[in-house]
Amino acid sequence: MTVNLWYAHPKDLPAQATAGDWENILNAEERARSGTFRFEKHRREYIITRLLVRYALSHYHPAPPQTWNFRTNRYGKPSVDPDCGLRFNLSNSSELVVCLMGNEVELGVDIEPHGRAIEVAKLAREFFSSLELEQIETLSDQEKFNRALSLWTLKESYIKARGLGLSLPLKSFSFVFGQSNRFHLKLDPGLADDPANWRFRLLDLAEHRVAVAVRSDLDPHVNIWEARPPLYAPVLQRDGKEAAVQFLN
Ligand SMILES: CC(C)(COP(=O)(O)OP(=O)(O)OC[C@H]1O[C@@H](n2cnc3c(N)ncnc32)[C@H](O)[C@@H]1OP(=O)(O)O)[C@@H](O)C(=O)NCCC(=O)NCCS
Repeated sequence: MTVNLWYAHPKDLPAQATAGDWENILNAEERARSGTFRFEKHRREYIITRLLVRYALSHYHPAPPQTWNFRTNRYGKPSVDPDCGLRFNLSNSSELVVCLMGNEVELGVDIEPHGRAIEVAKLAREFFSSLELEQIETLSDQEKFNRALSLWTLKESYIKARGLGLSLPLKSFSFVFGQSNRFHLKLDPGLADDPANWRFRLLDLAEHRVAVAVRSDLDPHVNIWEARPPLYAPVLQRDGKEAAVQFLN
């Protein structure tokens, strides 16, 4: 079981990038939304996320990046429309965007900047279960910040994989940590799910904590792909066929 984690940095979208560099890839709705951001950093984050998901999908399925359509479930989880078997989930900050890709497998991903650890730890009582709080309280400050970041991203990754948003109460499930940072999921009976169905991975990438959730009874292998600039639109080649220029390695 393999899933693919694609990532890109919003700062890599060239500062001088004009709409012409990417507008043929985004659809009309995405282009319109890209014009609504008050701050340049949010505009970049949005554009690069849309480019990342479109190029990543096209890496696994023979359809050009600009041809993908999407729908969202009632809780906002996006998916490919029509379904071609590929599954993806997105998470972004102003420094990093990630897109987790898999085939015929329910998945979720969440990232948080390391720099948010203290702030997240302060929110522990609001979001973490009593079991998680009990464990976190035994830790030194530094370990607390680290655990808070892991718990936050793990909980989000599970919620995002389920696609139920915050209708799934955050305190109704726990990530219980044991020796050597091993952990397992514990669910309240009301959640109608079985922890044995799920596999999680925690990793650090570009100064962010990343949690990956996959509905599988096998440990997933996570391939990590960096999407690099230049983010040019496809160029017209001499034979008249469009070729996607190197956006992703
Ligand atoms: C919306 C939510 C799915 C994630 O929000 P987030 O962590 O702020 O944002 P992320 O960057 O990780 O993810 C956003 C992306 O998730 C996807 N997404 C949206 N709703 C989703 C859902 N119900 N399920 C899965 N993915 C969803 C979208 O692709 C979205 O990006 P887009 O708007 O550019 O398309 C939801 O879980 C939420 O509102 N969380 C609030 C934060 C919170 O209280 N966290 C407590 C953690 S203990």
